[in-house]
Amino acid sequence: MSNTNVKGWQSPNNLQDLAEFEDINLRILQVCQRIAESQHFHPNVILDHQAWVNISPPGASNKLHYHANCHFSGVYYVSLKAPGCGSIFFRDPRVASRMFPPPITQQTDFTAEEVRLRPEEGRMYIFPGWLEHGVEPNQSTEDRVSISFNVRAIQQAPLGRS
Ligand SMILES: [Fe+2]
Repeated sequence: MSNTNVKGWQSPNNLQDLAEFEDINLRILQVCQRIAESQHFHPNVILDHQAWVNISPPGASNKLHYHANCHFSGVYYVSLKAPGCGSIFFRDPRVASRMFPPPITQQTDFTAEEVRLRPEEGRMYIFPGWLEHGVEPNQSTEDRVSISFNVRAIQQAPLGRS
């Protein structure tokens, strides 16, 4: 994973190995497990994740990127103490989807090329790793603090085989 923070600080991606982050690690895996089940992932998969902290002071942003080689990506907003901390945005990466735009009078989340969400403190947002995303500059006077993560579903060998 490359560092996509602009003017921000990013920890090593080892929160999954730290006892101090046990609760959030467990929650990440629980929620992703539910998503995997809803998407009919094979029942013998185990989820493997990496997580890291982002501290984005005023003016810091996160440029458009995606996370290759993982099934789910997400972010948990630890601290958003002031308005203007910056929206997270998602961009449709399918080039072909822009070749023949639908004749709409108003965009929806399903027709928009880009969707913006104003994040809420204490909420977790999870999306496919291939979905392009970024975060607007923090225009508040407080740090924006979040925990980001990537999750892979690894299929175990069938029982009876070594
Ligand atoms: Fe990301």
